Amino acid sequence: MAGDVTYTVDGNVAVVTIDNPPVNAFGFDVRRGVIEAMDRAEADPAVTCVVLTGGGRTFSGGADITEFGKTPREPSLPDVNTRCETMNKPVVAAIHGFAFGGGLEVSLSCHGRIASADAKVALPEVKLGLIPGAGGTQRLPRLIGPEAALDVIVPGNPVAAPKALSVGILDRISEKDLLEDAKAFARDLAAGDMPSALRDREDKLEAARRDPSAFEAHAAALTKKTRGLEAPLACVRAVRMTLDTPFDEALVKERDIFIELMNGDQSKAQRHLFFAEREAGKVPGIGKDVRPRQVRKAAVIGAGTMGGGIAMALVNGGVPVTILEMNQEAIDRGMAVIRRNYDTSVKRGSISEEERDKRLGRLSTTTSYDDIADADLVIEAVFEEMSVKKVVFGTLDEVMKPGAVLASNTSYLDVDEIAQMTKRPSDVLGMHFFSPANVMKLLEIVRGKETAPDVVATALALGKQIGKVPVVVGVCHGFVGNRMLSARSAENEALLLEGASPSDVDKAFLDFGFSMGPFAMGDLAGLDIGWRNRKSLGQTAVIFDALCEEGRFGQKTGKGFYSYEDGPRDAKPDPWVEALIEEKAKELGVNRRSIDATEIIERTIYPMINEGARILEEGIALRPSDIDIVWINGYAFPIGKGGPMFWAEQAGLDHIVERLEYWHGRTGNPVFEPSVLLRKAAESGETLASAKAGKDDVA
Ligand code: NAI
Repeated sequence: MAGDVTYTVDGNVAVVTIDNPPVNAFGFDVRRGVIEAMDRAEADPAVTCVVLTGGGRTFSGGADITEFGKTPREPSLPDVNTRCETMNKPVVAAIHGFAFGGGLEVSLSCHGRIASADAKVALPEVKLGLIPGAGGTQRLPRLIGPEAALDVIVPGNPVAAPKALSVGILDRISEKDLLEDAKAFARDLAAGDMPSALRDREDKLEAARRDPSAFEAHAAALTKKTRGLEAPLACVRAVRMTLDTPFDEALVKERDIFIELMNGDQSKAQRHLFFAEREAGKVPGIGKDVRPRQVRKAAVIGAGTMGGGIAMALVNGGVPVTILEMNQEAIDRGMAVIRRNYDTSVKRGSISEEERDKRLGRLSTTTSYDDIADADLVIEAVFEEMSVKKVVFGTLDEVMKPGAVLASNTSYLDVDEIAQMTKRPSDVLGMHFFSPANVMKLLEIVRGKETAPDVVATALALGKQIGKVPVVVGVCHGFVGNRMLSARSAENEALLLEGASPSDVDKAFLDFGFSMGPFAMGDLAGLDIGWRNRKSLGQTAVIFDALCEEGRFGQKTGKGFYSYEDGPRDAKPDPWVEALIEEKAKELGVNRRSIDATEIIERTIYPMINEGARILEEGIALRPSDIDIVWINGYAFPIGKGGPMFWAEQAGLDHIVERLEYWHGRTGNPVFEPSVLLRKAAESGETLASAKAGKDDVA
């Protein structure tokens, strides 16, 4: 057979095996090979039925996404589907591992589907900003009904085999030998009437065709929170075609939507993020030869906001945890919050009571360091004060067993200085989680000057085990995320004084694609945190400080930049705040004027991009795409824009530099002074990644 497909015959069954490691992607050779194999099976008089299966670990991961954006080569995936579907002998897909995207679409063109009990199926195209483009939106609704199809296609999440069997995606599950069971299934089909292909089945569509209201309501509920992404809505549009558009016409339209999305900015951004996330896991000096240390049990110091969340993240991922606090009262407070969080999850139906109890069963508490001495890893989450952290690390150094990994969840502090409190700085690193730590995906792994490679590897492996997206960064004030956030906030107060209202700024952020603007976010997090921090550093911020002096700490006091008379979700602009801003502007002699959204974005997002470039220049982040991963997973940067550094390149680095220079000239604020790397990339027309590589060569 051509390329990566093998053809064998067992009695009257032809077995067509895709063999294209690692995931049997439907690249050009596979497509051609499957079509040739089907032709051969059809022509062979001894063959009565066919099994299509995957070699190695899996059935198929779908289309070869490295072909996306290139000129398509025939035969296409839809050609493969047509060939399977129009066979005059039944074809059974035998699925092990996973059948994702194009892999599932091809199996939907077969006449039957059987899978091993631990297999998974999915149409995850939406996660790349696409819709299934090879008939998935037309065949799946014909198999399981249009509403159930939306449940699979719009979120794009994997469906485990037992569930796939119960909704009707699979016909059978094989408990033992998948291939033998698939052959038996194919023979069964061959013994009866030729089963009709899905393209010819309309029965599951009838109810929604008569009355689409339930379908429409279901679609609306599923797409309520799409955060400005086009693909989920396009998925609905495509599935809706099953109600009124003939199959062949709908296939053409489905392809058109797919291609339009593929050429659009959002899908480009989402594909960038797909590769960026994989790339982030590759760290120079931490190859496969560096073995992570085993983490069989962990300890967390501090049961506050972060300690509690981190402990939950660990036990959710199967790691037993002991939480250490200063006294029983603090333990009780922390445990009450953890229990409440789990109870809420049970009430929402996201976990069972049994699962809650299992997770709580992995948690223990103590006030004595003796009880954590044999933990394989400790994560410290005490107050953000160097003196407190130093005492904790000094004690850890005394009590912890040799080889234990000692991590700090500090937001800003110098991890190298913390490490110096121990006689084992190579075992120390930062593991910076984001709030709420049991939910947010980002984990900044802060590699200190002396951190050993296997300690970094341990944090990477643990991060993945507990479902986080780990990104390795270097030591500096605030690391990658918070350092850029400071740059983004540097002009917030100036914008208010010069004429913008808090809601003008927040609206510009919403229009940009953020789900919240900086002032609403400040009200949510509590304005008093920054106020205390400024006081301890001897710094001031006229408007922010004035709000706090009035006791306006944000949502928790019912008033902040907005007032919240009707509850935390109902932020209303407050004339008192407007008057305060005007008064302060007058005092400072600032002339107020109207400020548009473009200016707001240029004075907030552009400095943050500039800081990102500085971070690259200093080697704090390894690559621009790592910064994008930090901002997407830790700070809700709009997914459709691909992260700040990707977005900057789309917007044009020369434009960014030109605007930074303009604002630097007008305000004198150093956050606008273009970084060397940004300037170099803008002048040479290179990407940030290649400009950085060039810089490293010189160094
Ligand atoms: P928190 O004030 O809610 O909790 C700190 C806890 O540590 C308290 O329960 C306190 O009793 C306990 N504690 C203090 N000293 C201790 C000691 N010597 N031994 C044992 N327990 C002690 O603070 P939060 O917000 O949880 O912050 C903790 C750390 O996480 C800080 O370094 C902070 O910068 C960092 N962080 C905070 C984030 C946030 O959004 N709150 C996000 C990421 C990091």
